[in-house]
Amino acid sequence: MAAFAPKTIVFCTFFLLLTTLPRSRAALDVHYYDKTCPQVEKIIFQTVYNASMHDPKVPARILRMFFHDCFIRGCDASLLLDSTPGNQAEKDGPPNISVRSFYVIKEAKAKLEAACPRTVSCADIIGIAARDVVTMSRGPYWNVLKGRKDGRVSRANETINLPAPTFNVSQLIQSFAKRGLGVKELVALSGGHTLGFSHCSSFQARLRNFSSVHDVDPTMDSEFALKLRKQCPKPNRDHGAGELLDSTSSIFDNDYYKRLIGGKGVFGSDQALFGDYRTKWIVESYAKDQSLFFKEFAASMVKLGNVGVIEDGEVRLNCRVLTSYFSLHPTNVNGSRYYNSQKIYDHSEIISPRDSVGHDTHTASIAAGREIAGANIYGLPEGVARGGVPHSRMAVYKVCWAMGCSLADLLAAFDMQLLRELISYLFHSECHHLSAKRRIQWQLELFRH
Ligand SMILES: *[C@@H]1O[C@H](CO)[C@@H](O)[C@H](O)[C@H]1NC(C)=O
Ligand SMILES: *[C@@H]1O[C@H](CO)[C@@H](O)[C@H](O)[C@H]1NC(C)=O
Ligand SMILES: *[C@@H]1O[C@H](CO)[C@@H](O)[C@H](O)[C@H]1NC(C)=O
Ligand SMILES: *[C@@H]1O[C@H](CO)[C@@H](O)[C@H](O)[C@H]1NC(C)=O
Ligand SMILES: *[C@@H]1O[C@H](CO)[C@@H](O)[C@H](O)[C@H]1NC(C)=O
Ligand SMILES: *[C@@H]1O[C@H](CO)[C@@H](O)[C@H](O)[C@H]1NC(C)=O
Repeated sequence: MAAFAPKTIVFCTFFLLLTTLPRSRAALDVHYYDKTCPQVEKIIFQTVYNASMHDPKVPARILRMFFHDCFIRGCDASLLLDSTPGNQAEKDGPPNISVRSFYVIKEAKAKLEAACPRTVSCADIIGIAARDVVTMSRGPYWNVLKGRKDGRVSRANETINLPAPTFNVSQLIQSFAKRGLGVKELVALSGGHTLGFSHCSSFQARLRNFSSVHDVDPTMDSEFALKLRKQCPKPNRDHGAGELLDSTSSIFDNDYYKRLIGGKGVFGSDQALFGDYRTKWIVESYAKDQSLFFKEFAASMVKLGNVGVIEDGEVRLNCRVLTSYFSLHPTNVNGSRYYNSQKIYDHSEIISPRDSVGHDTHTASIAAGREIAGANIYGLPEGVARGGVPHSRMAVYKVCWAMGCSLADLLAAFDMQLLRELISYLFHSECHHLSAKRRIQWQLELFRH
């Protein structure tokens, strides 16, 4: 037990400090940063463009980064978090070899923190960068909806939920459906492979000893299979060896679909799209009509960008580490209420005890957060982070709102607290060694923060 260890900590969360921060809405918005960071798209575009000029692999990698991030826990930049001693992160999960170029997002973030500090989430940077790489590769343009928050959880073991290159169409449909994406979106988004490269490991099972009857996957064009076998000899000493997923791999076009029709899909999951009646007609229509593909790809990217949008995450300062290290366990919270007799909130706030920018969990976890191993600040020494009185129970009252707070609400919250007799726990239970004066002071301090 810490110096003072009341069974119950009582405090209300004050949000006055937050009036300078952007407030999140549940729904994403094209104009989300119009007032708080009007240069956001320009800064990201310049960074991504410059990086792509120096390294032509950047566009495919950024596009893949967006897919991988959104497929696991939604588009919340969980993919960018580094592993810590207590936790292996998504980016170190098995299929990680294909996702790289994190430095591009890092550079954009650094410039954005200089231009508009603590404003643009890492998740939104990935979303905008993914659109930019498509557009700069001569693909379609679309308006990116913004206002995502960054998540606080990233687990390597969850990457098994990514669709595998060996999936058949039923498995693909199922995997996309879990994210609210339909069959058309599956086929359109697979067209993202028009920018791409794959290492041999993702398709070499198709090249040799494929099945008991076929040495080579029979859906693969035989000349193409010979070419791939040469590129991916066995044993393969060149870890960089592989194949472009499209013959015009730096141009975003519909060549990918034409190649599927010719039996030249690289992944089994690509070629399967042409072998199944549910998806074949869509492949054919995109192969015939590039503008249709562009239109549906853009719409599908917007839809993918809506997957798992969280309202109660944070805006990370450094995309690789959490900004608030504490996490509040739901069992810590014994009841939460909000008060707003004067209706002084504006419509962008969440009308609940929850706060829209994560200040609630932030404050509560400073008080009672359980231990988190491997916390660090900008990579400085890692250690165990914990709240003042880990695991203690709290009653949380939201009294103040972005536009202010009223005395009536404050008193109502106090009254409620008295009603629940929690105050008596605080004053009479386990803090004998604290003077009454100090205890009251301490409680008032909590109220002030
Ligand atoms: C452009 O990219 C290169 C390589 O990534 C980097 O060294 C350079 O600083 C970048 N320049 C600007 C203006 O961002
Ligand atoms: C991929 O993850 C493994 C651990 O599973 C790690 O050793 C390796 O460095 C990671 N590779 C990249 C490129 O991040
Ligand atoms: C991943 O590991 C965590 C514990 O570290 C576990 O709670 C979770 O169920 C696992 N998820 C999957 C998909 O295996
Ligand atoms: C797809 O793969 C799954 C798992 O291997 C299998 O159960 C299913 O029968 C396959 N479906 C089709 C249509 O081939
Ligand atoms: C092909 O697979 C069979 C059984 O799956 C195995 O016995 C055989 O050794 C394999 N051949 C090669 C060349 O890997
Ligand atoms: C929550 O608070 C109420 C009232 O003080 C108490 O009776 C109840 O046992 C508490 N519940 C938990 C899970 O601590």
